[in-house]
Order: sequence, then C-alpha cells, then structure tokens
Amino acid sequence: MSTTARTLEGKHVLLIVGGGIAAFKSVTLARELLARGATVDTLMTDAGQRFVGAVTFAGITGRAPLTDLWDASFSGELHVELTDRADLIVVCPATADLMAKAAAGLANDLATAALLCAKSPVLWAPAMHTRMWDHPSTRSNIAALRARGDLMEGPVVGALANGAVGAGRMSEPTAIALAVERALSPRDLLGVRLLVSAGPTHEALDPVRFIGNRSSGKMGIAIADAAARRGAEVTLVHGPIAIRPAHSSVKLQPVRSAREMQDAITALRDVHDVIVMAAAVADYRPAEVATQKIKKSGETLSIELVKNPDILAGLGSWRGEAKRPVLVGFAVETTDLVGYARKKLERKRCDCIVANLASDGFEGDDNVVTIVSADGEDALGRAPKSTVAGALLDRIKALLKTV
Ligand code: CTP
Repeated sequence: MSTTARTLEGKHVLLIVGGGIAAFKSVTLARELLARGATVDTLMTDAGQRFVGAVTFAGITGRAPLTDLWDASFSGELHVELTDRADLIVVCPATADLMAKAAAGLANDLATAALLCAKSPVLWAPAMHTRMWDHPSTRSNIAALRARGDLMEGPVVGALANGAVGAGRMSEPTAIALAVERALSPRDLLGVRLLVSAGPTHEALDPVRFIGNRSSGKMGIAIADAAARRGAEVTLVHGPIAIRPAHSSVKLQPVRSAREMQDAITALRDVHDVIVMAAAVADYRPAEVATQKIKKSGETLSIELVKNPDILAGLGSWRGEAKRPVLVGFAVETTDLVGYARKKLERKRCDCIVANLASDGFEGDDNVVTIVSADGEDALGRAPKSTVAGALLDRIKALLKTV
C-alpha cells in the first residue's frame, strides 16, 4: 500500500474552519495534513461549529479546537500565540463572510483576530453558492486578499450543496493539501524545466502480449511531484503505470515501448534544463511483433530479441561537451553497486547515477540509494522515495548553478 510522503514534517498549520456545508471536508483536510507530518491546530468559528463538532477535530488532530476569543481559562493572547506558531493558516471552508471580514480588517472573533494577526501565508479554500462567488463584493474582497499576497485554492465548478452545478464548490481536501505543500516548500526550482521518465516499458510480442518489468514508476513520480512542489516546470514521460503524480501541473506523456519513449524524449530534450531517466527501459525487444496472437504449439517457444536503443547513452552523446541539460541516470544492481554505477556514469556520459540494489527498492515506498558522480559517492541510507527525490533535486540544483 502506498503511504503519503511526509512533506510537511515539522510544519505547523492553523486550520480555520468557517461556517459552510463544506466544513465536513475540512476533517479530511486535517487528516491529509497530519498524514504529511504537519501539526494541526484547529480554530472553529461559531458558524463552523454548527456544521461539524469540535470533538471530531479533537479526536483527529489530538488537540482541542479553539473557538473563543474570550476564553478566560487561557492566560495569554490566544490569537497571538496561535499565529506565532503557525507556518501557514488555511481557511477551509472560506466563506464569503470570512473573506469580507479579513479584507476589511475586522477582528471581532477568534478567527478574524487570528487572520489580522497572521505572520505566515494565508491560504483560502472558498466555498459558496455561485451567486455569492460572482457577487462584486466577493470579487473585490478576493482581489484585495490576493493583492496582499494571500493564496487561493479553488473553488471549482461542480455540484453545490443544493444540487445545482456551478462555480463555488470547494476544492477537494487532497488539492488543498497539495496547495499547502506548495505554499510551504521552497520555490527554489522556479524556471527550471525538468523532464523525467518513469515506469517500465512494454515490448510487444503480439497484439495481446508483451515483455515488461516490475517497475512501479514511484521513484520517477516522486521526483516529478517534488520538483513541481518546488516550482519547476515538469514533464513526465511514463511507461504503463497504475499511479499518477499528485500535482496537476506535471505534464504527462504516456508511452509504451522503449522506442516510443526515446521518440518522446528526443522531441523534448532541447527545451529542458534537466533530464532524469528514472524509467526501467527494457534493454531488448522481440525481433518481430506478430500481427496475430501467437497460438500455443510446441513444448518450447524461443523468442529472438534485439537490442533497444539506450536512451540515456544517446542523450549523453547528443549533449557531448555541453553542460546542459543536466543528465541523471538510475541503476539497479544486484552486486558491486558503486562499481557498476561508476561504469554507467562514464559509458552514458551523465552527471550522476542514482544507484540502488534490486533488493532495496524496486516496488516499495522506500529506497536505499547512493548518488554516484565524478566528485564521489553519497550514500543516503534508507529513506522514503519522496526524501530521495528531494535530495536528488538538491544535487541537481547545485549542478545547475555550476553549468
Ligand atoms: N536506460 C536507457 N535506455 C535503455 C536502458 C536503460 O535510457 N535502453 C537508462 C535507464 O533509464 C537508467 C540507466 O539507463 O537511467 C541505467 O539502466 P540499466 O538498465 O541499469 O543500464 P544498462 O546499460 O542496461 O546496464 P545493465 O547491463 O546493468 O542492464
């Protein structure tokens, strides 16, 4: 089973729950944020508490929600303390009323006082009827909030509380959690165009059969997502895989065979600053592809295979002495990890090879990799693929600075 990457480890999120039907989805948002490693403080408006019980948030976040600006049992200034420790405030659902109050700078309850006291970014997840969303007051309040740097996630067009369809439906909790990730990640890869390949290739034998491998594509997808979070423009060329990147900004280009992958990458290589070959490309393909299904006959069946193009080696020779794009390869080995990786680094003329033992990470969520480059080896130890992706992107960022 796949686990959520702990992209918000050490982060403190203040979740303000406004009064709207979509408040029930803020419970799922709290879970999504916790699963990513965040600590979540919940602040509920009076109206928010009419839609969801405070006990629900207490049970899920392990922290009692805060509701009252006038809570005498609290000795300090609640709105100040709450905002002091928040790395981000997310308002979910963000009602027209809350946005209007924040735009006007009102502070007559705990939520609005906290918003006026905010020192962290504020992310609004609006939810309301289309007519409220379209109203000139709401439009100008949103423009005012945006102008001061507040972030918006949604709303989307979809079914509203009363069953009508229109703009104003709150974004789904996963999309809001991804917006939180983006808001809390360094945007240090803005402007970088990164092409990453992922997954296996399928080499057809006949119309119904192929030769493939067990690559899940998780490593390449983790790289695509981590880069998108950090602001890169990402294209993912992927073989047949069951999973997709979480970030919708990642452009997808599906392929099946090694030769299709090579064609896709060749067409895109000129406009990218970085190419990461995380795909498990088949080294060989059947010499002939039968046009009809191969029928069962003798006791044995031999299939002649011919070599596929080596896409990474091709990129290495195409780049020649130039330093761009940065080229990263992967190597899965069963013995002499660093020795084989170093040979691949030289043969394929790339900048680094991310090497791991087949026993350590082919299908799982973790990996144990060593990054091998001309400078030496960097053994990362066992880590989730999202962490490996982050470390690799740090390395790539350093390489981009030197070229
Ligand atoms: N690769 C590629 N094209 C191929 C095969 C591999 O671009 N036809 C890339 C992979 O995406 C990976 C790297 O090359 O980044 C290493 O692949 P690997 O299969 O380990 O290398 P090979 O040269 O095929 O060596 P081996 O004999 O170990 O299979």
